[in-house]
Amino acid sequence: MKSIQTAFRILLKVEKEKAYADKLLENLRGGSLVNLPFITELVNGTIRWQLRLDWQIQNSIHKKINKLQTKLRIILRLGIYQLLFIESLEKEVIVNESVNLAKKELGSHWGNFVNAVLRNFEENTDYPKDVVRRISIEHSHPEWIVERWLSEFGELKTIDLCKVDNERPKITFRLNKTIFTEEQLFLELSRDFCKKTEIKDFYEVFTFRQIKPFLIKGLASIQNTSAGIPSILLDPQKGERILDACCAPGGKLTHIAELSNCEAEIIGLDKFEAKQKLINQNIKRLGLSNIALVAGNATEFSYKDKFDKIIADVPCSGLGVLNKRVDMRWKRKNEDVEKITKVQSAILENLAKNLKKGGVLVYCTCSIDSRENEEIVHKFLVKHPEFEIESAKGKVPKEFLTEEGFVRTFQYQSNFDGSFAAKLVKTA
Ligand SMILES: C[S@@+](CC[C@H](N)C(=O)[O-])C[C@H]1O[C@@H](n2cnc3c(N)ncnc32)[C@H](O)[C@@H]1O
Repeated sequence: MKSIQTAFRILLKVEKEKAYADKLLENLRGGSLVNLPFITELVNGTIRWQLRLDWQIQNSIHKKINKLQTKLRIILRLGIYQLLFIESLEKEVIVNESVNLAKKELGSHWGNFVNAVLRNFEENTDYPKDVVRRISIEHSHPEWIVERWLSEFGELKTIDLCKVDNERPKITFRLNKTIFTEEQLFLELSRDFCKKTEIKDFYEVFTFRQIKPFLIKGLASIQNTSAGIPSILLDPQKGERILDACCAPGGKLTHIAELSNCEAEIIGLDKFEAKQKLINQNIKRLGLSNIALVAGNATEFSYKDKFDKIIADVPCSGLGVLNKRVDMRWKRKNEDVEKITKVQSAILENLAKNLKKGGVLVYCTCSIDSRENEEIVHKFLVKHPEFEIESAKGKVPKEFLTEEGFVRTFQYQSNFDGSFAAKLVKTA
């Protein structure tokens, strides 16, 4: 099947069945499709730029875009995405393939319609004057996200955030220091293709293919640089009892095990038992030990003994990782953020009871929304005077440090995702 047809099928499932684009693309891996990178580009690009594409379509047709049948809307989005963003394809080819797809899916009448729209298409760059509407359309983000970011970070940073969300994500990985060293890595992988990041044991590569052999041998794990910070703050030591309270798919869990050289007793808790299979595969692949997995709810979990250290990588809105999870921006609503903060607070509240006096609790998210970050921690500290903040100073580069000693990263900072981490110590 042609790439455009495969991309069309995936986009239709995302739109009609609320399926996840990354999962559908993942299912194609290992199949006979030679052009998976191009299909990925078509699917991810069309989803990322959806709002801007729809605005362009609306400027090119007389009907209301939401009155068009779904298949037609997707064919037009795909066509205009290619006209605007894929320079290597000639207009003639894009138009012909789109027309053929429309004829096959909808009949010759709609083939003619697609032909007329795409052949006469001219980009309109006269965006609305209103700042929220303008950024929202030009950079293809929902208005509620733009409004939120404008009020938290101002216009320039909002535009930077939106721009990065529309780019292909950087590929970073973590070295499994229990069995592999940096010297060995650079003997096998040229420094021209792989560079060190600001976070210890984390590197950036330019293509997935370069790192694949290391992943298969368990020498490395794909993980964003920012996701390394909470485990570094936790600083696991030999003999400690450690809880990772929301552990699936196990990125931080396995990092913690590596940092402790498998000499800490680690419990990985997650609400969903079905996720344990993948975590176990990773534990095995990396040759790690001393990790026990438990299925349970972190808002009510309790254990026979208290923990020395706990990490709470809570479920969150994911507003710091929108360039990786391309359909998330259209699925999330502002009310979801409000709802999820209740779960985050409840998790923190219960975990506090499971920590020893003198113990460490690291709270973290992959969100840049202060409602899920600073606000949760501040509320918790008012209720729990027995906890205090331990500054991350000295543990992370100072551009990621807030005045209060929290860590905050933004997705426009080199190879980082947007994230937050707070280290809290139970003093009494
Ligand atoms: C941000 S992800 C954790 C990512 C993980 N720490 C890692 O580094 O790979 C949040 C996880 O919390 C789990 N979760 C959601 N609600 C939970 C709850 N009430 N108790 C425990 N786990 C929960 C989800 O299944 C999800 O895997």
